[in-house]
Amino acid sequence: MMNTEICAPSPEAIARAAEWIRGGEVVGFPTETVYGLGADALNPEAVRKIFLAKGRPADNPLIVHIAQLEELDPLIRGELPERARKLAQAFWPGPLTMILPKSALIPDAVSAGLDTVGIRMPENAVARKLIDAAQRPIAAPSANRSGRPSPTTAMHVLEDMRGRIPMILDGGPCRVGVESTVLEVLADPPRVLRPGGITPAMIAGVLGGCQVDQSVLRPLKEGETARSPGMKYRHYAPKGHLVIVEGPKAAESICRLYDAAPGIRCILCPQEHAPLYGARRVRPLGSGAEGAAEQLFAALREMDEIGAQHIFSESFEATGIGLAVMNRLGRAAAFEVVSAQ
Ligand code: TXA
Ligand code: MG
Repeated sequence: MMNTEICAPSPEAIARAAEWIRGGEVVGFPTETVYGLGADALNPEAVRKIFLAKGRPADNPLIVHIAQLEELDPLIRGELPERARKLAQAFWPGPLTMILPKSALIPDAVSAGLDTVGIRMPENAVARKLIDAAQRPIAAPSANRSGRPSPTTAMHVLEDMRGRIPMILDGGPCRVGVESTVLEVLADPPRVLRPGGITPAMIAGVLGGCQVDQSVLRPLKEGETARSPGMKYRHYAPKGHLVIVEGPKAAESICRLYDAAPGIRCILCPQEHAPLYGARRVRPLGSGAEGAAEQLFAALREMDEIGAQHIFSESFEATGIGLAVMNRLGRAAAFEVVSAQ
């Protein structure tokens, strides 16, 4: 086991993290979405260490992070599509990952054998300084052990990665809190495979149209293949039984279900609704869909820490960033939804 150091992101610490990456090692670093587990995207050995540290199946590809637009061209095959140029101009740096045809520079270990690669330019200043200092694109999945909720603080990364990586840069809590929007740019119309901070409406505003993949708000059917390999895995699920309760009578119904359930129970809801539950145990998720996006993963981790056996969550309107919230919450609940009319 190696020693895992947590460091404030001073210029000196960022330089050292960049040295680890240049030397083929893996480090934890903040982005505006969630923390990433970064390695040299052009070094297959380094990339394999990411899969090992995460316990991730080798058929799930990684996102490549760049800091400057000039770094994009060598990573993709052919000319930069007009659509991609428009999207980059509108949303980079920011929480948008574009799936594009990959060049020969991208190792198979990164793309998991696909002929495409997901690329994003994060907005977080520490992430950008790290990429600049490493002087190479950084491949990075979310810095959780496979199957756990994505980490939104450096402590979450330490929980999952202690002894597995040499260093974590601590940039404080992540602003968005859910992973980036993954977009199949060249589909017609462009298709969101994973919703995030850049919404379908924002994308349609730039390109004229945008579709959302069917798998976003329901489980894959028997025999159905996932367009985004990550969507076929069970994700984010707490150890306890999580149910989403929707409809106009959700709060009443949650109270009844809570009172009837044995053991340690907890309710997830917008902060403003907490008083509806009286003395019952509540984990408020901040205000609105933005608050829920920011706090959902931390809340799911806490459910395991308190040993919650039954978790009841209010549902959120699946528009704007609420679509990302309902996608993550749905997957954590194995899409088990109770309707309270
Ligand atoms: O916000 C984020 O995107 C974070 C931060 C660290 O940047 N990263 C992240 O990476 O969430 P990861 O590996 O946890 O999720 C990447 C998702 C997976 O669902 C994967 O299947 C999908 O993107 N993906 C990656 N490359 C793809 C490709 N070429 N085609 C289709 N899906 C792809
Ligand atoms: Mg992930």
